[in-house]
Amino acid sequence: MIRSRLDTTSEEHALRRAAMLAKLADLDAEHAKAVAGGGEKYVERHRRRGKLLARERVELLVDPDSPFLELSPLAAWGSDFPVGASMVSGIGVIEGVECVITANDPTVRGGASNPWTLKKSLRAADIALRNRLPYVNLVESGGADLPTQKEIFIPGGQIFRDLTRLSAAGIPTVALVFGNSTAGGAYVPGMSDHVVMVRDRAKVFLGGPPLVKMATGEESDDESLGGAEMHARVSGLADHLAQDEYDALRIGRRIVRSLDWRKRGVTPGTDVREPAYPADDLLGIVPEDLKVPFDPREVLARVVDGSEFEEFKPLYGASLVTGWARIHGYPVGVLANARGVLFSEESQKATQFIQLADQSRTPLVFLQNTTGYMVGKEYEQGGIIKHGAMMINAVSNSTVPHLTVVMGASYGAGNYGMCGRAYDPRFLFSWPSAKSAVMGPAQLAGVLSIVGRASAAARGQVYDEEADAAMRAMVEAQIEAESLAFFLSGRLYDDGVIDPRDTRTVLGMCLSAVNSAPVPEPGRFGVFRP
Ligand code: COA
Repeated sequence: MIRSRLDTTSEEHALRRAAMLAKLADLDAEHAKAVAGGGEKYVERHRRRGKLLARERVELLVDPDSPFLELSPLAAWGSDFPVGASMVSGIGVIEGVECVITANDPTVRGGASNPWTLKKSLRAADIALRNRLPYVNLVESGGADLPTQKEIFIPGGQIFRDLTRLSAAGIPTVALVFGNSTAGGAYVPGMSDHVVMVRDRAKVFLGGPPLVKMATGEESDDESLGGAEMHARVSGLADHLAQDEYDALRIGRRIVRSLDWRKRGVTPGTDVREPAYPADDLLGIVPEDLKVPFDPREVLARVVDGSEFEEFKPLYGASLVTGWARIHGYPVGVLANARGVLFSEESQKATQFIQLADQSRTPLVFLQNTTGYMVGKEYEQGGIIKHGAMMINAVSNSTVPHLTVVMGASYGAGNYGMCGRAYDPRFLFSWPSAKSAVMGPAQLAGVLSIVGRASAAARGQVYDEEADAAMRAMVEAQIEAESLAFFLSGRLYDDGVIDPRDTRTVLGMCLSAVNSAPVPEPGRFGVFRP
């Protein structure tokens, strides 16, 4: 059992806690923007039309009082589009079955899909496919956001491809259509295994009456072109005609129940013990200045079952903590950065540990707080590149599920070796304290300055020191802003920013979700250069 040495009465703890709480208050404010959708005017109009909001639809679809793990609520943060990207996405439980659920938010620009909505949709389908989770779409959308069509039209085809691939993989897809589903959007019900349409509300056509008039000269109306009743009685696109929104949600629940879905992964142990230390302490662990190291065992003591952690190779490569634990009864292998920098020893230890986890079919949890691999003559000569490459090779080719939490720094190739977004972890969440970039802002600005100085010298010019100072300040501010958790989450480089206190719950829900799929077969590692 981990013996905590955290002094929760210290001034340092209080300062760190206050800083984290301030960041969480900012996070709440950003989440509130996503919940507010298109704002009061459009929400009011939507209600006047007798319709439920996207989140209300989700709430009525999932089992009463069951948790909903919302994904990427900050999508589009820092872009020209409203936070949330006009879509709700997440994992919810319907009739006891974990499903991926997405819902268009029709109060935001008619629910039209912008480039960030597209990313969110594609991510949802990817989660459904990799974790073998039934996929339920709650549809009401104006289709492509027309002013940004160039960003979405061509890549957007993947939405429909993914739906049919899910179906081909035996993963059920369900579309509940509440309103408009025009043009490309019509292929969402078109490609889904099960389709429910709401009477007098659903409108599903390749082209609405004005477009048909332009194309062929034919006079038509919404109902005969794409109404729910027409699709239920004439075209056969709708399998169920719902009387109203509640009825559609009821039918959706019944469809999922009749799937008789069984999980194929491991069943967790039943004697689950809570950590011995309170999750609340997690607020006071990460320092404001990420250069100051912290002990990830203090985090593990508040996340894993019974605070029990069987450390692997504690005396070797001590900058990286590795070991075995359970989370909500699921066995996991943990890799957690302790002192930021990864040396050759840490890389070798990580490689061995990942191979052990892969052999025993144990999912891996990465807790990131790294400034990257060590640079310098001694380390280059010691083979830091080949050792880092070996660790990255092991992460890339291990086939057990990977879950990543970015607690603090995630710089340089450390982001890769510790299973960053490009390494396809099944889920990746950030704490509000997370920062990620190719390197720290000051270092990046410094490198640019050195390169600029050398270039001026080569041309025989005098270097403009004043311009250099201005450039450094500007670049530093830009890189700092672009490395923050909200910005990265806005671009869907993670699945959401979470309260550190929720880490155990979120990881537990993810471990449950990944075990809907069978445990994957062991893969092959590439050529190692030890
Ligand atoms: N792209 C960009 N903006 C869109 C949009 C789209 N596809 N669809 C709607 N919007 C905008 C509207 O311009 C409007 O903006 P405003 O409030 O600033 O004026 C806002 O979203 C709400 O639209 P509105 O038409 O008032 O809402 P509604 O609920 O009455 O109708 C639709 C919603 C979707 C039926 C209707 O907007 C529509 O038919 N849109 C175009 C659908 C289409 O042909 N899409 C092409 C798909 S490839």
